[in-house]
Amino acid sequence: MPAVFTFLFLMKPYYITTAIDYTNAAPHIGHAYEKVLADVMARFQRLTGREVYFLTGVDQHGQKVQKSAEKMGISPQEFVDGVTEKFTALWSRLGVDYDGWAATTDEKHKRVVQAALQKLKDCGQLYTAKTKGFYSERAEQFLTDKERLEDGTFGEEWGTVTEIEEENWYFKLGEHVEWLRAFIQSHPDFITPAFRTADVLNALENSGGQDLCISRPVERLSWGIPLPFDERFVNYVWFDALVNYISFAGYLSEEAGNADMPVFARLWPADAHVIGKDILIPAHAIYWPIMLHALGFSDEEMPKLIVHGWWNIRGKKMSKSLGNVVDPQNVSDIFTPEGLRFYLMRDMATGYDADLSEERMEIAYNKELAGGLGNLLNRSLSMAQKYRSGVLAVSAYDDEIHQALRQTVADTVPRYLEKMQTWQIHQGIEEVWKIVFQANQFVDLTAPFKLAKDSEQAARLDSVLYHLAETLLHVSVLLTPIIPQACAKMREQIGWVMPEGFTFADLHWGLLKDGHQLNQPVPLFPRLELPVAE
Ligand code: ME8
Ligand code: MG
Repeated sequence: MPAVFTFLFLMKPYYITTAIDYTNAAPHIGHAYEKVLADVMARFQRLTGREVYFLTGVDQHGQKVQKSAEKMGISPQEFVDGVTEKFTALWSRLGVDYDGWAATTDEKHKRVVQAALQKLKDCGQLYTAKTKGFYSERAEQFLTDKERLEDGTFGEEWGTVTEIEEENWYFKLGEHVEWLRAFIQSHPDFITPAFRTADVLNALENSGGQDLCISRPVERLSWGIPLPFDERFVNYVWFDALVNYISFAGYLSEEAGNADMPVFARLWPADAHVIGKDILIPAHAIYWPIMLHALGFSDEEMPKLIVHGWWNIRGKKMSKSLGNVVDPQNVSDIFTPEGLRFYLMRDMATGYDADLSEERMEIAYNKELAGGLGNLLNRSLSMAQKYRSGVLAVSAYDDEIHQALRQTVADTVPRYLEKMQTWQIHQGIEEVWKIVFQANQFVDLTAPFKLAKDSEQAARLDSVLYHLAETLLHVSVLLTPIIPQACAKMREQIGWVMPEGFTFADLHWGLLKDGHQLNQPVPLFPRLELPVAE
């Protein structure tokens, strides 16, 4: 790469977003997973030395919200404000540390949506048409013959379906389907994991060519963004929601009269839109790139999609009707916020589904965090306090066991970095756990409690204690994206402050100097006495 491009690349912040969550109900464990996943990547990227802009938020418009508010006898705004608070409280509890908050009832967002609609209309991308069709209130969309069951009816997942005739505004989506197909085929990195690309190409094959209805008549839905050129309509909720990724990044901020927005050219294109598999087709893989393309974005200005799987319960979808929806607030009350972060990251292979299991959560907390990591920290610091008043000495002693531990630490770092860069967070954790496992074995093999009884073994004991402290320091840096608070506490106990601007590249053996003073151990993950899961 020519130096100037390298420079520009380094200047561009890593721009990461998530799906914005519907505010028609309280947050759920799938929402928590997605935001934690993005937060882990944001923290990871920062530790690689990259500037990061992390945007998340809430999707507040649409029919379901309007209905829920009506039922409660309050205004839609009051209703979404109440639900939104539950989301923001959860993110703060889970340490989801975003830089930008995308709430779609924000006036700044509304103005950008209107400016984008106007732009599409001005270049001939929108038109009106009268259509008669079958409308699903629950899905807020017209259904086609494709959605019919063999007996000709529509499945119950669509709720009440009625035939209506109405005029609406349409976006010439069909005009760009050929472009999209070619774009996807020539840009295999558009969608991660790659196996989802085939589903998108299939969907284009089967239903490509249909234009998208982007309006709703105000008589039917008033809780939306008014079309700037036709007051009889509000904007279709998905069009409004997708625009958040650019509106809050500063797109058209001048046209919209928005002050204090990020500089769009610095952030865009997004390095990662983190979404669940259910909203890949058609919203993110079809509507969204075509919307951008029609607005004049080039192929190089398309975002990258990171598509995660679903958390199920014993292979079944979580749903209100099954009564098996898990409240992340409850889980974090029981397993602690970082216990939940750790569990969610270690038990799902990014892109695939996983089963949410209380038993597995208990193992992740009590065995891995408390028994593996917490115990290693505790016994290492306790011995250093007991035998050396917490003072480390760099020792000339060396042998194969000591070398092997240093080798594992050295080998793990690049492997961990590679796994994390490619979103294999669970494998990144596995790599770090190889160190934790070996360090616990190292204590058993070197038996410092025996060495302490023999004054001739002083240099050897110093080396053991030093190796344990350095190893723990490495672990505390590597796990920072996943369990940031626990790692900060680890470093406090080790007595080492991470310098401003520290990156993974600065991590090397020997950060702790001769004479370094360790602090007293405090249990990191006090064991949880849990009612045994059924
Ligand atoms: O789809 N497991 O909002 P949403 C994993 N507002 N992820 C899950 C999940 C589960 N069980 N359930 C939901 C919307 N999610 C729109 C998005 S973006 C411009 C607009 C994920 O509240 C889901 O896949 O229904 C999605 O990525 C996110 O939670 C929000 O879902
Ligand atoms: Mg959904």
